[in-house]
Amino acid sequence: MVDKYAVIGNPIDHSKSPTIHAAFAKQTNQNISYEAIHAPLNGFEAKVRELIAHGFKGANVTVPFKFEAFKLCDELTQRAHLAGAVNTLTFKQNKIYGDNTDGVGLVSDITQNLNIAINQKTVLLMGAGGAAYGVVLPLLEAGALLSVANRTLHKAVLLANTFNRLKLGKLEINAGEFVMFKNHPFDIVINATSTGLTDDLPDISVSNFSVNALAYDMMYGRETPFIALAKASGAQVADGLGMLVEQAAEAFYLWRGVRPETKPVIQIVKSLQMEKS
Ligand code: ATR
Repeated sequence: MVDKYAVIGNPIDHSKSPTIHAAFAKQTNQNISYEAIHAPLNGFEAKVRELIAHGFKGANVTVPFKFEAFKLCDELTQRAHLAGAVNTLTFKQNKIYGDNTDGVGLVSDITQNLNIAINQKTVLLMGAGGAAYGVVLPLLEAGALLSVANRTLHKAVLLANTFNRLKLGKLEINAGEFVMFKNHPFDIVINATSTGLTDDLPDISVSNFSVNALAYDMMYGRETPFIALAKASGAQVADGLGMLVEQAAEAFYLWRGVRPETKPVIQIVKSLQMEKS
């Protein structure tokens, strides 16, 4: 019997998750299937119930359903609870378990693939929406000295208060509008805003990148204005493709108890992307 998994989203046609999980399964000899499933915008829960009825063991969840998935779960991990969003569902004994592997995916990509330590580094997280919340806990656990900049001040403050209350980091998260960080250099600058979609640039400048800084855009597939600015400042740059593969590896591990090698799979996804462009 093949164990069935899926990714649910809308849109979902261009999802790379089936390719990634097929590569993990082949590499680790796991007998699974993994398909991309489109759910209507008002039909996420019905789709999940349908998958459970058809014997699926789990599913990944992508835009725009991560918040709905969060609400649907019977049990949540701490990182999913704090993220307020779920990207990995496990169906077991008539219950839905929710986790969020995005933040661990980001941290693994930075520390293992890019070989850059996060511990004790100053990190500027740009954005205070869903994408930002998803990565805060793993960044703090990795020892980041974290600041959060957001266009709308109260959202940055809310994010910082949410996590500062738990006293998880070495220092409290510093929160403000972008202007508050003017001329403050950071070792790592992470773009978790949605500006890449509209080709906008948050209000940062070359002075926000320290010497040898890493600029990480959680978007992938195109050069965003943020990455262009970072390159101009001489920073090392990375997009979110490695994070995509790493968050998938963590989900695969949760489901199968086996950790796949991610580097060859990152290469596969990169070459598929190059073929397309
Ligand atoms: P996501 O789930 O992708 O995080 P979101 O929750 O809507 O989406 O959050 C989008 C983030 O991008 C927010 O931090 C938003 O800033 P605001 O809180 O001020 O809205 C940020 N963002 C979007 N467009 C932006 C822009 N042009 N400049 C700066 N920040 C922007």
